[in-house]
Amino acid sequence: MDISRLKKKFAVIFNRQVDPRVFFAPGRINLIGEHTDYNGGNVFPAAISFGTYAVAAKRKDDALRFYSMNFPELGVMECKLSDLDYQESQAWANYPKGMIRFLKNEGHSITTGADILYFGDIPNGAGLSSSASIEMVTGVVMENLYLLEIDRIRMIQLGQLVENKYIGVQSGIMDQFAIGKGKKDHAILLDCKTLAFEYAPLQLEDYVIVIIHTNKRRELAGSAYNERRLACERALSDLQRSLNITTLGELTTDQFEQHRYLIDNEVDRKRANHAVYENARTIKALEVLKECDLQSFGQLMNESHQSLKNDYQVTGVELDTIVEAAWQQPGVLGARMTGAGFGGCAIALVLKGKVDDFKENVNRIYNDQIGYDATFYLPTISDGAREIVLKE
Ligand code: GLA
Repeated sequence: MDISRLKKKFAVIFNRQVDPRVFFAPGRINLIGEHTDYNGGNVFPAAISFGTYAVAAKRKDDALRFYSMNFPELGVMECKLSDLDYQESQAWANYPKGMIRFLKNEGHSITTGADILYFGDIPNGAGLSSSASIEMVTGVVMENLYLLEIDRIRMIQLGQLVENKYIGVQSGIMDQFAIGKGKKDHAILLDCKTLAFEYAPLQLEDYVIVIIHTNKRRELAGSAYNERRLACERALSDLQRSLNITTLGELTTDQFEQHRYLIDNEVDRKRANHAVYENARTIKALEVLKECDLQSFGQLMNESHQSLKNDYQVTGVELDTIVEAAWQQPGVLGARMTGAGFGGCAIALVLKGKVDDFKENVNRIYNDQIGYDATFYLPTISDGAREIVLKE
């Protein structure tokens, strides 16, 4: 990334001759463990080299001004520190506004405004957590400009609160956690109930992770995500008639099989089936990765996709076409959708020497069936949200 270009843009947009500071928060992929976070289960995400840059400087008055190079048509959006209410017309700027509001609510002293320019190199709406990335980069901007002491886990939880209470998406903690605590070349096995986590070196030998974007926009705020969550909550309360549990993530697959009859509604039973088996797969995935058994890892990815398609029903024709095309390619160990689903991205584990053929073949099949191209990204696994300090 050309940081000096971002700084020049900052000077032009805000008409200021200061030396602003630069921050970065990654996006994330999830290797396995989908729709398990809000069910108290495990997830296995990793922060990626694509993400959101923020160039920022404090102001003397109480104005907050936001500009995104990804939405130049929206121009500079402005509000006062004393009025951080959600405003539909402020579109993406509600994410930083929400984050600043929740930091202030926690008692952090933010008494003057700021100018912040954003630039994201993850496509927005791709399911790689561009919104959590904006929240977390705003968190580190505030932490550093205002010398706040913010516990990192708390910052992560505040990011989730922005989604849940400000934007209105009942999402779990995975995205903010992966982005806030990411570690170069490592994935994170996170228990979303206790927030206990473990870093696992991502040693993929001759294989690489390829991200494939369907180029179908994924609208998280759409009701389907919240509906899935409600279905799991209903299934849980049915199971609680006989079981002393507080989340679906506490169940082994055997316990689930013995008690699944308690779930009244067939659709809810399918949703819970996914949550329980996906959680079990996620724990297994860490085990096989530790043994460098990439074949089994790929197999678990494939099973995860099947379950998201048939039981959780969040894939859709675009993701299924990509993943099924990926499965047919030589040198592919596994492929699945990643993130919330309903469009967005898939990931595949592909032999290095086969990546070019993979892209060409998958794109040909995709374009034939869907009518437009997919986009391919080769990410590296990155550290979490941080300031970028340039060496002179
Ligand atoms: C979105 C949410 C996460 C998680 C995934 C599905 O990314 O923000 O909390 O639920 O979907 O695993």
